[in-house]
Amino acid sequence: MKIFLDTANIEDIKRGAAMGVLDGITTNPSLLAKEGVEYKERVLEIAKIVDGPISAECISETTEELIAEAFRIAEWHENIVVKIPFTEAGLAATNQITSEGIKVNTTLIFSPNQALLAAKAGSTYVSPFIGRLNDAGHDGMEVIREIADIFNQSELETEVLTASIRNPRDVIDAALSGSHIATIPPNVLFNMINHPLTDKGIDLFLADAKKYSPV
Ligand code: E4P
Repeated sequence: MKIFLDTANIEDIKRGAAMGVLDGITTNPSLLAKEGVEYKERVLEIAKIVDGPISAECISETTEELIAEAFRIAEWHENIVVKIPFTEAGLAATNQITSEGIKVNTTLIFSPNQALLAAKAGSTYVSPFIGRLNDAGHDGMEVIREIADIFNQSELETEVLTASIRNPRDVIDAALSGSHIATIPPNVLFNMINHPLTDKGIDLFLADAKKYSPV
């Protein structure tokens, strides 16, 4: 499973990239707003750090406006994936944009039906939001399993990009559920590093290493 970082924060992206584990980045308007930066400038800054797909979201609402916005955003950098919220207008825009070679990440997916429609329209990635589904009393991971099964059985090339991840266990469950990608918030990625038994083991090795002459 590929790992994307779900953030627009440059320090976190640098830290994740230095770990050598990042395959791409996802951003959204809320993540950009938290940084208080200029959109295009930040996306281009990210592209210098991570050599992989970078999702940048459209905010238009009609098909025509979405298509125009998608073409503008896609021109910024070759690694840009245009993120389009799941709507009827978004599906029509996706179909047109992808037929002209632009990659689309359909976001705000909450059901296998929506994922199937997005894939049929030509989406490169679909982003089901598991945390928000769980918050609303649904089983987010069951939605991931069903989408992955449908894509496999129908031989659809669209990749399942599990989003709205809240903890390290979500990442394991996404991988086991057949998700192609997990987009992980920085705090969750950095928590995945930690295990108390690793810390204890290092302390013990360091203590024992003092008992012999170092090389
Ligand atoms: C994904 O692309 C979204 O940016 C993100 O995962 C949403 O997560 P949230 O539900 O924690 O806002």
